[in-house]
Parts: sequence; C-alpha cells; structure tokens
Amino acid sequence: MPSILPEGDRPPADGSLPAAARAEIPQRTLGIYVHVPFCTTRCGYCDFNTYTAAELGLNPGASRTGYVDVVIAELDLATRVLGPEAPPPVSTIFVGGGTPTLLPPDDLARVVTAIEQRFGLTADAEVTTESNPESVTAGDLSRLREAGFTRVSFGMQSAVAAVLATLDRVHTPGRPAEAVAEARAAGLGQVSLDLIYGTPGETVADWDTTLAAALATHPDHLSAYALIVESGTRLAARIRRGELPMTDDDDLTDKYLLAEERLTAAGYTAYEVSNWATGPASRCRHNVSYWRGDHWWGIGPGAHSHVGGVRWWNVKHPDAYAARLASGASPAYAREVLTPEQRRTERVLLELRLSEGLPLEVLTETERLRVPDLAARNLAVVDGDRLVLTLRGRLLADGVVRGLLD
Ligand SMILES: C[S@@+](CC[C@H](N)C(=O)[O-])C[C@H]1O[C@@H](n2cnc3c(N)ncnc32)[C@H](O)[C@@H]1O
Ligand code: SF4
Repeated sequence: MPSILPEGDRPPADGSLPAAARAEIPQRTLGIYVHVPFCTTRCGYCDFNTYTAAELGLNPGASRTGYVDVVIAELDLATRVLGPEAPPPVSTIFVGGGTPTLLPPDDLARVVTAIEQRFGLTADAEVTTESNPESVTAGDLSRLREAGFTRVSFGMQSAVAAVLATLDRVHTPGRPAEAVAEARAAGLGQVSLDLIYGTPGETVADWDTTLAAALATHPDHLSAYALIVESGTRLAARIRRGELPMTDDDDLTDKYLLAEERLTAAGYTAYEVSNWATGPASRCRHNVSYWRGDHWWGIGPGAHSHVGGVRWWNVKHPDAYAARLASGASPAYAREVLTPEQRRTERVLLELRLSEGLPLEVLTETERLRVPDLAARNLAVVDGDRLVLTLRGRLLADGVVRGLLD
C-alpha cells in the first residue's frame, strides 16, 4: 500500500483559493498533472499512490472504466476555482502514474480534449504521458499522437534481466527499444526513458549495459534515479530480512558519475540533477515548471497542486476521491499556505538543482557569505549573477542546500 499523506491545514470544501494566491494566476505558466492510479502489479520498490485491480476490489467509483469521468469532474472544479477571469492557457500536460497506458488511448484522448476545452492549450503545449513499455502497443502510440500527445516517457529502469527481476518489472530487456521505435514511427517528437541505478545486486557493468542500451535507442531525454528504499515496501522487507543487500552510497556515487560520463559523451546535458536532454528543446518543460515554482493543478487521487504559494493535495484512495467529487466537493485533503520565507527556501532548494542555477539575489546576505566556502570545496561556482552546482555539488545537492540556508 502507498505511504500516508502529510497533514496540513483543512482546505475549504469548495477548494477555493485565497485572494492573494489568485492574484498570482496571470503571472505564471499553468501546467496540469493527471494521476492515473492503476498498475497491473505493484513493483516491490514502489510506494507511489497506485492500486492493482485486486487492491481496488469491484467498487465502480474506483474502476478504471469510469475514471476519466471523475478526472473531468475535477477539471470542472479547477475551472471554477481558477476563474472567473480566464487563467492562462495550459502550457504543459503530464499524465503520470501508476500506469496511464492501462487506460484505453481514447480515454487519455478525452482527458486532453477536456483540458483544451476548459483552459485552452498554448500553441507549443507539451503533452506527455508516462508509459510502461509492456502496457502499450504501436497502435496505442499512434492514437495518442493523433490525440495531441507530443511526448512519451517509458519506464525502462534497466536493460539487465536479473535487475528487472529484482525490481519486479515485467517487461523483457528488449521491449523498451521496440517501444521507442514504435513511438518514433507514430510521430511522437519527444521520447524519454526512466532508468534506476543502485538496485541490490546490480554491478557497475550492469549499469553500463543499461546506459548503453538506453543510448542505443537515441532518446531525446533520460532520467536516472538512484533507487530509494521506501519504508513499507516489499523491497525494504527483503533487505531487512537479509535476502538482498542495502543500497550503498559509494556504489550510487560511482553509478551517477558513470551516467554523467556516458551521457555527456553521447551529447546529452544534465539540465537538472537527475535529468539529461539532447538540448534545451528536449527538456521536460512540465517538470521544469515544478522546479521553477510555477503553477500546476494535480488532478487525481493523492495528486499535489501549487498556485501562488498555496500547496494542496488530494485524498489518496480512488474511492474517496470519486465520492468527494460526486458530492460536488473538492477532493483536497489538506493544504499549506506558504509564508514568503518558506517560498524563498523552496526556491533555493529547487532552482539550485537546475543547470542554470539560482540567482544570487535570492540568498540573504549571510547566505551569500557562505558561497566562497562552497566554491573552495568544489561544490558550486558563481556564474555571472547565479550560483551553479558543480558535478560534486550535484552528488551532494541536498547537503549543499542545508549548509547554505540560514
Ligand atoms: C512511479 S513511476 C510511474 C511510471 C511507470 N509506472 C513506471 O514505473 O515507469 C515513475 C518513475 O519513478 C521512478 N521510481 C519509482 N519508485 C522509485 C524508487 N523507489 N526509487 C527510485 N525511483 C523510483 C521510476 O524510475 C519510474 O519510472
Ligand atoms: S509500474 Fe510504476 S507506478 Fe506501478 S508499481 Fe511499478 S514503479 Fe510503481
């Protein structure tokens, strides 16, 4: 089962926002995240808010069949909350999960159409779906392209059968390359692969094999995540019982450095600590908007949203989520209204992860006095009026931020 939600303030039943947050709506881009909380089986390492059919039972409110209608009900709520003046057209849509491609492509098409009808889309809108390589066909990808999707992100994770088995992934090592070729043939202009390194039992040579296999498909974008052993997962239990070794920080460092070496040599640039792209046009604009503190509305159970310094998150279970919307209420479970100082701290934490770095003016005078020490320790450099992490700083990003902030 997924982990529990954080507590916060109680949001109003109609989901309305404070006037100060609403006043910021025209100032920033608007993205929409749509969470699809379904998976065929649960991978042993994953604690995302997702449910198998067996976990959901037969409740119709939580079924995959009716899910898009519930999503559209939350979009209607979003238009009421963000109105009455028209919010900016949506510049990015990201359908994530769970496994979005367990829904029929026509359902995903309905989601894009519903967003376009309610908010409009910018001319160059980025419309992404995540997909597990085994849950999608060439025909599905063509239909998604026709429906307006511009980008697909496949969960490849590894090219080594033993590593995929430890992760409980059900696709064959060769399937992601086929899926990338199918996405290209369908006309999807931007293709990304998600990789995981540091799986128990994975050697550095295995990771090198995975990087080479990923690069051989010529994706536009790659994400490489260090495996996080989430408490309460099957993986954590297996490690506790001694069946698998715990991840090792030195091994994770070696594998991050290998990824940087291989990907840089192949022409990719890390534009964020865990994300590499062939160029600025291939960055994931939706994720960049999170790191820049822009506005996004997260649709779906457990989804998080941010508008004008107000962050809120929805109830987690698909049944409770559907029931709230059916009664005309907001599905928000709790929210936080950030103080200016909290917003500044978040800005430091998030923008420092980007290759453009953080404008020095965001730092207090005391914090700026700490910059020469970071530079002396080869953790960050000053580039014009910005503070930018070095490769060593990227490895220690969270620690650098902790040391920098007042
Ligand atoms: C939650 S999944 C959703 C997309 C799709 N179901 C999949 O698995 O590819 C998004 C990505 O999160 C990453 N992820 C999930 N759990 C993780 C963990 N415990 N440690 C590191 N990465 C994780 C995986 O790389 C995965 O591709
Ligand atoms: S397929 Fe993706 S979302 Fe589903 S359990 Fe596995 S990692 Fe989690």
